[in-house]
Amino acid sequence: MIRVGILGIGTVGTSVARILEENSDIIEARAGKKIVVKTGIVKDTTKDRGVSIALSDDPSTVIDDPEIDIVVELMGGVEAPYALVKRALKNGKPVVTANKALLAYHRYELQALAGEIPFMYEASTAGGIPIIGALRNGLSANHIESIKGIMNGTCNYMLTKMINEGADYDEILKEAQDLGYAEADPTFDVGGFDAAHKLLILASIAYGIDAKPEDIVIEGIENITQTDVTFAKEFGYEIKLLGIAKKVEEGVELRVHATMIPSESMIAKVDGVMNAVTVVGDCVGETMYYGAGAGGDATASAVIADIIDIVRGNHGPMLGYKKGLESGLKLLHKDEIVSQYYLRLEVNDQSGVLAAIASTLGRFGISIESMLQKPSKNEERAKLLFTTHCCAEIKMRDAIDALSELDDVHGEIAMMRIEK
Ligand code: NAP
Ligand code: HSE
Repeated sequence: MIRVGILGIGTVGTSVARILEENSDIIEARAGKKIVVKTGIVKDTTKDRGVSIALSDDPSTVIDDPEIDIVVELMGGVEAPYALVKRALKNGKPVVTANKALLAYHRYELQALAGEIPFMYEASTAGGIPIIGALRNGLSANHIESIKGIMNGTCNYMLTKMINEGADYDEILKEAQDLGYAEADPTFDVGGFDAAHKLLILASIAYGIDAKPEDIVIEGIENITQTDVTFAKEFGYEIKLLGIAKKVEEGVELRVHATMIPSESMIAKVDGVMNAVTVVGDCVGETMYYGAGAGGDATASAVIADIIDIVRGNHGPMLGYKKGLESGLKLLHKDEIVSQYYLRLEVNDQSGVLAAIASTLGRFGISIESMLQKPSKNEERAKLLFTTHCCAEIKMRDAIDALSELDDVHGEIAMMRIEK
């Protein structure tokens, strides 16, 4: 028998404990041993969790218990779980976690500390989709050209409801929280940070790149307006929060932002809490992975798969490499990323204004691909919506600063990247 201790019996921890019991027949058959939860750790031991396991508020009762074979970390946060899983590894216990924030900051230290001790984290990225296993194992013969995906279930759920049903931002965020999709602090979801944590994990496996969230472009969905949605639809785009890792000549670009993508692309059709990740490998070509990106049971499915793999003795090096990559891929600086852009400006509705804007963009070598004018609430003004041809991020930022200085331009200029 294998005894598991779970740090955190919340949305995911409750599902893990329940499914280990309810599906014990198939789990035992596949693992070759019975797997039971010995202890669960919570802050509030008086709250009913609906599962029949011993609860404690003292993590030592899991970490230092010689009878516990595997420690499962499902409490969230960064430094507190880091200290606890380090102690578990020092005690020689294999660790399973769903905590992408922890891994975004400490995956390389944890890999070094774990050594030959299994450290598994399938549930950390894209919920129930086995994307970590696909990259670490199924695609391990490939140089990875790109990874693009919807990696945050909360944002995709919100965007789908806002775009298709005109749902209110705050109400729909509350719904995602009630459904157990959102992080304890939902600004991690809507601000793009959660998707960035996941992208960094995938980039480590795909490219061996050790980057931190501060090193990459991270933008969320907070500033998307109905005008942007309408424009996107008119021009054949859907808006999705994407995580993008792409190998280019100069290195690897990593970014998370709201993106306009062609409506006919497969990923544009991925709605609700579903996630989808496409990975292009040099041998396999394009592959795509789809499934529930958040929620207790879907995430628990991935957590338990890791536990079963550990029991079977199936685990490779934590981040997928037995030794360092000699090609030494580098993270491309944020400024150097090249993309197409969408811009939304509020301007005086007068002759000469359009010419001044086109000329300002031209000064930065940016050429306009398409343009739309829409009425503004203020009758003397208009909304101008542009898409541009490709240009470097730094040029676009400088151009936006220059456009903001024009007397005929009012308020914030909205910008979104386009990915075809
Ligand atoms: P949650 O519902 O907030 O559960 C967290 C649990 O940890 C709670 O039981 C809480 O106790 C306990 N806990 C937190 N800090 C503690 C501390 N200092 N000492 C003792 N217990 C503590 O979170 P969740 O949604 O299950 O997420 C857990 C982890 O999985 C996070 O890292 C999250 O990012 C990740 N994840 C979540 C999902 C999802 O869909 N929810 C999907 C993939 C990954 P109390 O209940 O007493 O407060
Ligand atoms: N809050 C995360 C999401 C949970 O919405 O995708 C899954 O990692």
